[in-house]
Amino acid sequence: MKNIVVLVSGGGTNLQALIDAQNSGIIRSGRIVCVISSKAGAYALERAKNAGIEGVVLPRSEYADSHAYSKALLELLREKNADVIVYAGFMTILDEQVCDAYPYRMINVHPSLIPSFCGKGYYGLRVHEEALARGVKVTGATVHFVTAECDAGPIILQKAVEIQAGDTPEVLQRRVMEQAEWKILPLATEYVCAGKITVENGIARITDDI
Ligand code: GAR
Repeated sequence: MKNIVVLVSGGGTNLQALIDAQNSGIIRSGRIVCVISSKAGAYALERAKNAGIEGVVLPRSEYADSHAYSKALLELLREKNADVIVYAGFMTILDEQVCDAYPYRMINVHPSLIPSFCGKGYYGLRVHEEALARGVKVTGATVHFVTAECDAGPIILQKAVEIQAGDTPEVLQRRVMEQAEWKILPLATEYVCAGKITVENGIARITDDI
């Protein structure tokens, strides 16, 4: 049974999907031992509390730079005996000292079909605004391994979602969450915990179905 630590910054609907998947048995090779928020007052912390999961605030605003924050977070992850780390709406970029310590054990959900609309500056609603502005007809979500380069790690799962006439960024964001993120993030978490993913030449492959 792996110790899962979930990193959050906001509302935590993806955290909720992970908690629900743990309760329904979709996630069965690990359990969420701690939720760490980069922001005090994030609603995700309420969700953790309601599920009886420890919540810790490590405020990004209290650290001078990414390096100092990454060092503090790494210490906390070690203290919690983290095996698998899940970014669920975590809006802070960490430097390589964290991903180097957990090779192919950190995953992130991103609200687009990578390599579209990703990288530094593409996060949250902004991703959907850009997708609508570009006039794409299909978007979606991606779960990938976290590496030192933002949104560039091996892709584990993707799911496409159609754009509909009259979509606003908010409406599209909700559809991408419902139809894609809340499904593929728990599944990818189970795959990683169960050791069912191999990575070769930057390509992730799921070795067995669950
Ligand atoms: C989600 O749409 C997630 O994919 C996105 O932020 C939202 C967080 O919502 N993450 C990123 O943009 C990361 N680059 P949540 O707090 O309700 O899970």
